[in-house]
Amino acid sequence: MNNYFFNLPTKIYFGSGSLEKLKEARRLGRNALLVTGKHFAKSSGLLKRLESILAKEKIKTTEFCEVEEDPSVETVEKGGELARRKKCNFIIGLGGGSPMDAAKGIAVLATNPGGLRQYFGNEKLKNSPLPILTIPTTAGTGSEVTRYAVITDWKARTKKVVSSYSILPRISIIDPSLTLSLPQKLTASTGMDAFSHALEGYLSTEANSFTEILSIEAIKLIKKYLPPLMKKNDLFLREKLSLAAFYAGIVINRTGTIIVHGMAYLLSLDYGLQHGAANALLLPYVMDYLEKDRVYRKRLKEILKTTKAKESLLKLNRGLNLPLTLKEIGVEKKDLNSLSRRAIKDCGRALARMSIPLKEKDFLCIYKNAFE
Ligand SMILES: [Fe+2]
Repeated sequence: MNNYFFNLPTKIYFGSGSLEKLKEARRLGRNALLVTGKHFAKSSGLLKRLESILAKEKIKTTEFCEVEEDPSVETVEKGGELARRKKCNFIIGLGGGSPMDAAKGIAVLATNPGGLRQYFGNEKLKNSPLPILTIPTTAGTGSEVTRYAVITDWKARTKKVVSSYSILPRISIIDPSLTLSLPQKLTASTGMDAFSHALEGYLSTEANSFTEILSIEAIKLIKKYLPPLMKKNDLFLREKLSLAAFYAGIVINRTGTIIVHGMAYLLSLDYGLQHGAANALLLPYVMDYLEKDRVYRKRLKEILKTTKAKESLLKLNRGLNLPLTLKEIGVEKKDLNSLSRRAIKDCGRALARMSIPLKEKDFLCIYKNAFE
C-alpha cells in the first residue's frame, strides 16, 4: 500500500439535465466571461440556453467565442485582455478540452501581469486566478476536473502546460445530454483520449490505490460503451462515456500522463490529427514497447487482464475508424528522426513519471513501429 496525496476541491454536478445547476454560478460572481469554440456553442443554441439561465440569476455575461482546436497563446492572451477590460469576476469554459483549457489560461491572465508564456510549468502563478466553471460538451478531455491548461505555442511549435491547483475549476457541470450532438468521429477520438488518460495514469509512477480503481473503471466503461456508440446515438451510452472521461480526468489530475501524450502532441501540431486520435494511434505501440520491461509488463498484465483490453487495443481503434499508422496520416519515413528528437523534449515531465529511463532511440523505435 502506497502513501498518497489527493485533493479535488471541484464541486461536481453529474447527470443528464444537470445544466440547470448553472444557477450555482452566482456563488462565483456577477460578471462572467463565457469562453467557447467558434461554432458549436452558438449554432446548437447552447450558448443562448446558458445566457438565459445566467440572466435569470442576474449574472452579466460577455461572450468570447474564438477558441480554435488546440488553443494558441495568442487566443488566450486576447481572452485575458477582454476579461480584464470587461472587469469579469469569473470565467465559464463551455465545450471540449480546447475552450475549457483556454478558459483556465484566461482566468490566469485576468489577474496576473504580462503574457501567458511566463506561467508555463508547475505552480508559476503570482496571483490567484479568477474562479472557473466548466461545462464539457465532449466526453474525453477530463479538463473539467484537472489542474492543467494545455496551450499551443506556435513560436516554439510545441504544446505547453500551465499546471496549478489554483486553476482547478470551482464548479463543474457534467451533463451527458450535451454530448448527444457530438459527431461520430469526435466521439471516437475524444473517447480514446479518455482511454489514454486512464491507461497512462495507471502506468504513471504517481498512480495510487484510488486512481487505480478509477483507471480500471474508466477503461471498462470505454471498452464496453464506446463501440456501440458508433452504431447508434444513445443517451445511456453517452452517460457511460461522460462518466469514464470524468473518472480518467480525476486520474490524470493526480498522476499526469506518461509518454503517449507527449509523443502524440506533435502529430496534432504537424499533421492536424485530433488530440484523442493521436493518442489512440500511438497507444498500442507504446504499450508493446514498454512491455519489454519487467515492471511495465507486470503493470500492464494487471490492468489489461482486469479490463480484458490488451488484445483489443488495435481492434478497438479499427472498430472506431481511427487511423492505425503514422503513414496513414501523412508522416514520411524521413520525418521520424526529427519527431523523436522533438518528442523527447516535450516529454520531460512525463519521463519523470516513468520507472525506466527512455532515450531518443527508444522514441525512434516506437515511431518506427507505428509507421506502417
Ligand atoms: Fe488528453
